[in-house]
Amino acid sequence: MIKAIRGTKDILPGESGIWQEIEKISRDNLKLFGYQEIRTPVIEETALFVKNIGEETDIVTKEMFSFVDRGERNISLRPEGTASIIRSYIENNLDKTSQFRKLYYIGPMFRAERPQAGRLRQFHQIGVEAIGSLHPALDAEVIALSAKLLDEAGVKGYRIKLNNLGCREDKKKLSKILKEIFSNKKGEHLCEDCKRRIKMNPLRVLDCKNDGCREVVRDTFKEAVFICGECKTHFEEVLKFIDMLNIKYEIDPYIVRGLDYYTRTVFEITHGGLGSKDAIGAGGRYDNLSLDMGGPDVGACGFALGVDRMMMILDRDKKSNGPDIFIAAIGDAAYAKAFGIINDLRNNAISCEIDYEKKSLKAQMREANSVGAKFVLIIGEDEIVKGEAALRDMKTKEQSSIKFENIIKEIASALAMTKRGL
Ligand code: HAM
Repeated sequence: MIKAIRGTKDILPGESGIWQEIEKISRDNLKLFGYQEIRTPVIEETALFVKNIGEETDIVTKEMFSFVDRGERNISLRPEGTASIIRSYIENNLDKTSQFRKLYYIGPMFRAERPQAGRLRQFHQIGVEAIGSLHPALDAEVIALSAKLLDEAGVKGYRIKLNNLGCREDKKKLSKILKEIFSNKKGEHLCEDCKRRIKMNPLRVLDCKNDGCREVVRDTFKEAVFICGECKTHFEEVLKFIDMLNIKYEIDPYIVRGLDYYTRTVFEITHGGLGSKDAIGAGGRYDNLSLDMGGPDVGACGFALGVDRMMMILDRDKKSNGPDIFIAAIGDAAYAKAFGIINDLRNNAISCEIDYEKKSLKAQMREANSVGAKFVLIIGEDEIVKGEAALRDMKTKEQSSIKFENIIKEIASALAMTKRGL
């Protein structure tokens, strides 16, 4: 039997309701913050990612799904959203209608990483890109929005870690400092990957997850002495705005991010429940990307949350996807009545299910339980004679009789009570 490719995952019916909920909550909140949805293709020219994520990054050197198509074009599955969104912003002249744009996206990304819990080859992001401003209030708002989306989805216990990478010149200074520190004896204690990074992409040595490297790095590098005055002031302002919003954060000088386009504010959101792959989201400012890609010289800031990782943390009732009503009908007359009622319920936006296999009442009750129905409406021969049905609350196990003519009204009010937690 052919199975799903390693590192990919089916989102099954028991879970898809929670995915839909997270997406809906996110869309509602993103609208509240003024973001509009953008949908870009999952395939792009490979050069888009190589040039803009960075030739020496892990994503580009090791993790892209790239191929040459029948027309000899080099194509890659998108490993992230930011480069595609900026391409689209420039290509479609989105800056001409309004130079400041707030865009969001929800969709799959692809990275050929070694699969493990929380690390997939097809994963899903909810991301935002606010393009067209250098204002520090934007950094703070973007960080607050990432926290709001997590809060609203019910993710608790996450930590927000911030750092200031400075401008491009500052990053060059930092690279030089790190090269100097680690090209002597100290460098010998680094892992093989970091020995290579010191030559090609020194910043990444700072966030190596290898215990030995972490120790050496923390012993030798402590302060952000390389940051210029303007970038220092920008970050101080960002912190002031974040404090106004009462967002809790920690400053972590070892956050550098795995994508080269970042400048100034960078952040990661981590969660202890995720093990070594502990980031549920990350982002920051990238003030050179639009200009580098041939677009206007505008500042920008954004983040992406990993939905698969949010799902790992959310310990929600998998049955939240179940129908409002399951109708258990016994006998032909009851089934015919039930079939009419089901139609009325659906026309009144009440979701319901019915048995299609003439099962016994006991078996139908079992099925109602397994699909996670909130209530069961029981109709048998007696009920037909009396002109009423029995409504059973599957949580409290309480049962009451309701007249056929009052079914919609009574069920709607019972559902409203459960929503209010009564
Ligand atoms: P990133 O840190 O590469 O940033 O990814 C963001 C989030 O996507 C991660 O924190 C994680 O939750 C999730 N993620 C990444 N790789 C995987 C994987 N292999 N399996 C499961 N989840 C994963 C970016 O992608 C930037 N484009 C974010 C951004 C937007 N910065 C500015 N704007």
